Amino acid sequence: MTPTLNLTINGVPQQIALDDPRATLLDLLRERIGLTGTKKGCDRGQCGACTVLIDGRRMNACLALALSYDGAEITTVEGLATGETLHPVQAAFIAHDGFQCGYCTPGQIMSAVGLIAEGEAGLDPERIREGMSGNLCRCAAYAGITEAVLEATR
Ligand code: FES
Repeated sequence: MTPTLNLTINGVPQQIALDDPRATLLDLLRERIGLTGTKKGCDRGQCGACTVLIDGRRMNACLALALSYDGAEITTVEGLATGETLHPVQAAFIAHDGFQCGYCTPGQIMSAVGLIAEGEAGLDPERIREGMSGNLCRCAAYAGITEAVLEATR
């Protein structure tokens, strides 16, 4: 029997027939739901390009077995903006050139949103670099990324 998964994705409840019980949340989002903002880089938990929020916490979607998250709330980069208004973290990435090619950017932004939501007091550049260390940028736009996250904490 095909298991049915109940997920709330970017605020929209969805029932998804899970044809392949081995599917990762990353493949489900990209290939079944069509939310391709979440990127596949390494597909083995090493780059952070696939970062989403699951029940508000940062997670590499490539490491998340979709079947394990029945009932969860998933937020992807597509769920951040409100209409035409960007999320403050998205706006800060633009203001501080927190990207070059942009491939890692959705994961960087989701990780930053999750890091800020963790509510740690006194996020300074060093702590931001540490907190974002699971998100790699091959263009090495780290200075802009750190500035962007710093601004978003203010
Ligand atoms: Fe998931 Fe790289 S694609 S960590």
